[in-house]
This record gives sequence, structure tokens and C-alpha cells, in this order.
Amino acid sequence: MKKALILLFCIVSVITLSRCYSSKKAVAAIPEASGSAITYDVQIKFLMNEYCSPCHFPEKGGNKKPYDSYASVKTDIDEIIRRIELNPGQKGFMPFKRSKLSDSTILVFKQWRDLGVPEK
Ligand code: HEC
Repeated sequence: MKKALILLFCIVSVITLSRCYSSKKAVAAIPEASGSAITYDVQIKFLMNEYCSPCHFPEKGGNKKPYDSYASVKTDIDEIIRRIELNPGQKGFMPFKRSKLSDSTILVFKQWRDLGVPEK
């Protein structure tokens, strides 16, 4: 009985530690909503800030097309997805002169579009 408890404790520790490790390795941990839905307020706003700033954020000194509001990101979502799916070096690639977003991050944008670009 005692051995089983010790074993259980070890398994739980390993799982907990490996989770900590993998989340630290990620470039940016995408916030998770309480439900499964992806919303502008929870994930998209965060991602735009993380990857498209300062250039597209006038309040941070950016002078490119502003993507600091739900309305502007919603309106341009198709163009945003088209550009983040390009590869560095291709004309129009975003984020400009940086590395390409991960597949899973790009997928968040696509799922958000498929859900009908919910704000909240
Ligand atoms: C280092 C600065 C920089 C960053 C970071 C950046 N952009 Fe841009 N963005 C630019 C520049 C410069 C242009 C204008 C040239 C062009 O259209 O390719 C532009 C233009 C755009 C346009 C076209 C806007 C229009 O005028 O219609 C879109 C869409 C866009 N960026 C999306 C993004 C997205 C999405 C991100 C984040 C994933 C991002 N950009 C990150 C510099 C940046």
C-alpha cells in the first residue's frame, strides 16, 4: 500500500514537472478561455499584442495599419491569416522581418475566424 502511494506520488510529480517545462519552452503561452471557444478578448487580443506590436499599435508608437481593436482585426482577419501563412521572405509576410508564427498559433487565428470572430 505504501509503495503504491509512493509510486503514485512519483507519477504525479513527473507529470507536473513536465508540464512546467513544456510551458516554459513555448514562445508565448496563449491564454485559455474557461470554455473551449476562442474569443478576441481572451486569445486574439493577446496574440496581436505579442506578435504584431509595436508596428500595428499606435499607442506603442507603431505607424502601420492599427490592429489594436476588435473592429479592425475582425475586418482584416482574412488578410491577417493570409499573411501569417506566408513564409519569411515572401512578399507581404507578417510579422514583418520576424520569424513565422507556430502552426498552433496560426491555427488559433483560423479557428477564431471559423467560429465567426466572437469578441467575448
Ligand atoms: C516590425 C513591424 C511589424 C510587425 C511586428 C508586424 N507588421 Fe504587419 N506591417 C508592417 C509593415 C511595414 C506593413 C506595410 C507593408 C506591407 O503591407 O507588407 C505591414 C502591413 C500589414 C498588413 C496590411 C495592412 C494594410 O495596409 O492593408 C497586415 C494585414 C499586417 N501587416 C498584419 C500583421 C500581423 C497579423 C502581424 C502580427 C502577426 C504583423 N502585421 C506584425 C510591419 C509590421
